[in-house]
Amino acid sequence: MPRSENTVKTNFFSSHAMAFIRQYVTDPLTGRKTETAPLSEHNINMGATPAQIDMTVLTSSPVARISGDIRVPGDKSISHRSLMIGAVAVGETVIEGLLEGEDVLRTAEALSAMGIESSRDSGGAWHVYGAGVGGLAPPETILDLGNAGTGARLLMGLIATHDITAQLTGDASLRRRPMGRIATPVEQMGAQVIATEGDRMPLTIIGAKEPVPIEYILPVPSAQVKSAVLLAGLNTPGITRVIEDRPSRDHTELMLRNFGADIRVEELPNGGRRISLVGQPELTAQTVIVPGDPSSAAFPAVAALIAPEADLTIQNVGMNPLRAGLFTTLAEMGGNIEFENARTEAGEPVADLKIGAGGLKGVTVPADRAPAMIDEYPILAVAAAYAEGATRMEGLSELRVKESDRLAAISEGLTGCGVTVTIEGDDLIVEGKGGKIPGGGTAKTDMDHRIAMAFLVAGIGAEKPVSIDDDSAIGTSFPGFAPLMAEIGAEIS
Ligand code: S3P
Repeated sequence: MPRSENTVKTNFFSSHAMAFIRQYVTDPLTGRKTETAPLSEHNINMGATPAQIDMTVLTSSPVARISGDIRVPGDKSISHRSLMIGAVAVGETVIEGLLEGEDVLRTAEALSAMGIESSRDSGGAWHVYGAGVGGLAPPETILDLGNAGTGARLLMGLIATHDITAQLTGDASLRRRPMGRIATPVEQMGAQVIATEGDRMPLTIIGAKEPVPIEYILPVPSAQVKSAVLLAGLNTPGITRVIEDRPSRDHTELMLRNFGADIRVEELPNGGRRISLVGQPELTAQTVIVPGDPSSAAFPAVAALIAPEADLTIQNVGMNPLRAGLFTTLAEMGGNIEFENARTEAGEPVADLKIGAGGLKGVTVPADRAPAMIDEYPILAVAAAYAEGATRMEGLSELRVKESDRLAAISEGLTGCGVTVTIEGDDLIVEGKGGKIPGGGTAKTDMDHRIAMAFLVAGIGAEKPVSIDDDSAIGTSFPGFAPLMAEIGAEIS
């Protein structure tokens, strides 16, 4: 049955109920449970409109030089996965460099509600006390994933093959996003999803009592959908298979293999991949070293490229080839980027980036590169605005269902800064200025962290300052963004 015929409109999630959500950590030595600082109010208050929440306008003024030697916070995708896979491994998983952004803390909180404790030690490493495959307990509370699409979708997969019922919700941005893409495969595996109209959150997921393995051909190129099916396959007897036409980020596959799962990846003649996971493995707790997030490194990197002068090093950036599409594109544009000390850490490739200013030229970015840089189009569009000539970015339909409609947000924000932008079908065309952009606009961020950061970077080399209407989403993926940018010479206030 198509998902649209199988949805029920629900209204059982009230802002009142959300007040009961708390985050606890357990001291590994004493076993004592303590409540951590509450997460930001706007994510807890389901009913809040942007006007009611803590919105701060930020303005980025033009500067002469970007320079320094920095690190960016840990990779968001790997952080979510390390908590979830650690949760269903046997023993204590140690995570170094976990991203302590709101999105990832929401995942830790949701796992804690399902009986999986985690704690942070004095050196900053996180410890997850895994319950083994199939070990999640029925949640004590509604699971509020805040702004986090990855947290919500991957958890739906993990929960789907546990004999438990969970209610999931999120903030206004997450409640707009399609969840049918996860409901469809997990229902084929035996779970039931009762969603709000349009396959949105809030939703209830009733996990399968007797899960069945599936072979699932991804209808959209999405690492979240692939990962949700694989995580559901963990507590399913037999072999769960996922086929993707265009390879997407493979952190789930790499991490499951490191934890001891029997997982096979075959390259297909059409350039796609088939991933086969043998169900009900015994996963063994590991130490995970989370590299710096390339999607976060993208912001200071482009800041350096568009500044009048720059000499910037960003250390320890994840260079998984299925994430590095932006850097491939910037190199094709003539960007001055060098990759040093290439190495592998805990199964993931890592390098240090050295970036100098200038020299960008417009290019065409093919649609088949989109999965490897899906989160980087807002910042690429900013780089393209400074480049000489037009940049055409092809095949961006998925951008319409991110934290905001990013195609619209990029187009409106850049137009407000005096840059000509056209949307043709699913393609975005930015006419580069071949140097400074006029600036002077205020971008509407619509609860989207990457739109917020991209437009703060846009001000760095502009004629006039560029503002954003709301900085509150930045902490979901890049806590400390503004101070770090100030350290390298940006003027954001
Ligand atoms: C992610 C996959 C991407 C990306 C998101 C993180 C992941 O989403 O946009 O920020 O960690 O798997 P899609 O799978 O929907 O493309």
